[in-house]
Amino acid sequence: MSAFLQNDPSLTAKDRLIFALDYASLEEAKRAVVSLNGHVGLFKVGLELFVSSGPGIFKVITESSNCGVFLDLKFHDIPETVQAAVRAAAAYKARFVTVHASEGKRLLKAVVNEIHNDTKVLAVTVLTSFSQGDMRDAGMEKDLDICELVLRRARWARETGCAGVVCSGSEVRQVKERVGQELITVVPGVRPEWATVSNDDQRRVTTPRQAILDGADYIVVGRPIRRAKNPVQAAEKVIEEIKTALRDLAVHP
Ligand code: C5P
Repeated sequence: MSAFLQNDPSLTAKDRLIFALDYASLEEAKRAVVSLNGHVGLFKVGLELFVSSGPGIFKVITESSNCGVFLDLKFHDIPETVQAAVRAAAAYKARFVTVHASEGKRLLKAVVNEIHNDTKVLAVTVLTSFSQGDMRDAGMEKDLDICELVLRRARWARETGCAGVVCSGSEVRQVKERVGQELITVVPGVRPEWATVSNDDQRRVTTPRQAILDGADYIVVGRPIRRAKNPVQAAEKVIEEIKTALRDLAVHP
């Protein structure tokens, strides 16, 4: 069994579950917030919802739930523009905001220096939809191992003072062991064994249990909960899986 790599042992299984509010309207998102309140730790607002509904969703989450907010807009632009966007995003008092790490340390540093409240910057290393086979198409060194690329970017995140990184379950253990246990790791591309997602775009996937055993601080789950017949039951199933994994880590450190 593996060591406990999570950096905040006080977080409960529920606290560690981030639900992706990938909806096309504020009304649908609100229904999900109300019904999943108490069954997830944070709600993640991504591109689809933010572009279609705007910042009104933050009021909905704050007024209709006790959950934290994760603003996942994955900023990627010149430093000046991203700085301004992050400054505006921090005003929403989200727990986390995301920035692509691919531009390197100069951008990450500029962004971190821009935040003056409790909002934490997470650097997106390599999207979980990206596979080794995509390297060549993307014009990258085709022999470069994705894990090495993730580790390189995670080091940039640590060196520039980002609070954490977004990576897949395939790399999370190495990030914790080789870059720094204090880095918060957020793992999307989570697919419980009992869930089937049709036309899945995710490539580097893992189960909730494996992600936690390998050191994920948080996992992001969207479709396996959103498309379930009973989303609350699906969220509870994921929490149970996280709980068992945390217990196994504590019993067999
Ligand atoms: O539906 P699914 O469980 O694949 O949802 C994953 C969520 O995590 C989406 O909102 C997606 O934008 C986000 N995400 C991701 N890969 C990353 C970063 C964020 O899938 N590297």
